[in-house]
Amino acid sequence: MANKLAVITGASTGIGKEIAKIAAGEGYDLIIVADEPQIDAAAGELSSFGVDVQAIEADLSTFEGNDQLLAACGGRPIDVLVANAGRGLGQGFLEQDPAEWRRVIDTNVTGTTYLLQKVLQQMVPRNEGNVLITGSIAGLIPGAWQAVYNGTKAYLDSLSYAIREEIKDTDVNVTVLMPGPTETQFFRRADMERNTPVGQSEKADAAKVAQDGWGAMTSHKPHVVSGFMNKVQAAMSHITPDTLNAKMHTGMAKPDDVEESRGGL
Ligand SMILES: NC(=O)c1ccc[n+]([C@@H]2O[C@H](COP(=O)([O-])OP(=O)(O)OC[C@H]3O[C@@H](n4cnc5c(N)ncnc54)[C@H](OP(=O)(O)O)[C@@H]3O)[C@@H](O)[C@H]2O)c1
Repeated sequence: MANKLAVITGASTGIGKEIAKIAAGEGYDLIIVADEPQIDAAAGELSSFGVDVQAIEADLSTFEGNDQLLAACGGRPIDVLVANAGRGLGQGFLEQDPAEWRRVIDTNVTGTTYLLQKVLQQMVPRNEGNVLITGSIAGLIPGAWQAVYNGTKAYLDSLSYAIREEIKDTDVNVTVLMPGPTETQFFRRADMERNTPVGQSEKADAAKVAQDGWGAMTSHKPHVVSGFMNKVQAAMSHITPDTLNAKMHTGMAKPDDVEESRGGL
C-alpha cells in the first residue's frame, strides 16, 4: 500500500524542516516547499528516512506559487497539510518598506488562506485529513516594532479556530501551533537577530516545537502553545490590557539602535 502524503510548507529550515523529519519518520511521503534552492538540500536529507520526498521551489505569497504546489500533488490525496511557511519583519511600522510588509501579508495571510481553502475543499468531501497551521503566540499580543507580522499571526490563530468550527461535523482536523521565540532562521530573515532583545535571547528548540505541533495535530487538539513560559505568557495576554501587551512587546522587539521618541520628530 502507498504511504500517506504530507505536504509541508516552509520546510527548507526551522520548524517546518523539523516537522518534515517527524512526518518522514512516521512513514509519510513528503512534498516540501520553500522559496529558496535550500529546499533541495532538505529533500536530500529527508530522503534518508526511506520515504518519497519531492521538493518544490515556489513563492507561496502568490496564488500561482500555491497552484504550482497543488499541481505537483498530481491529484494524489493529501493526508496531512502543514501550512507553516511564513516570514517576520521587524523595525518600526513607519520605517517598514511597503514591499516587505506586503510580502509578509501575502505569504502569511493571503497565500496560506488560499492553500488552506484549496486543500480543505479536497479533504472535507473525502471526510479525512489533518491540518496543522503555524500561528504564533505573537498573534495574542499587539506587536509593537513587529506590528504587521503579529497582525498576520492573530489572523491565522483566529482563522484556524473558525475553520475548525465550520467543519466540526467532519473527520477533518485543524490545529494551530503557537510557538514562542524559536531558534530558526526567522529572526535573521526578519532583520531582528542582531539588534533586538528577542533576537538576542535564548530561544526554544525547533525540534521540540515541531514535536508539540505534530502531537497536538495527531491528537486533534484545537491549538498548542509550545513551552511552559509561553503558556504562561499566552494565558497572561488574555487578562492583560492590550496597551500593556503592546508595551511589553516593545521591550522584546524594539531595535537597540532606535533612540528617538515618536513625538520628538
Ligand atoms: N521562529 C520563531 O520564533 C517563530 C515563533 C512563532 C511562529 N513562527 C512561525 O513559524 C513558521 C516557520 O518559521 P521558522 O521559525 O521555522 O523560520 P524559518 O527558518 O525562516 O523558516 C521559514 C520557512 O518558510 C519559508 N517561506 C517563507 N516565505 C515563503 C514564501 N513566500 N514562499 C515559500 N516559502 C516561504 C522559508 O523559505 P524561503 O526562505 O525560501 O522563503 C522557510 O522554509 C513561520 O510561519 C513563523 O511565522 C516562528
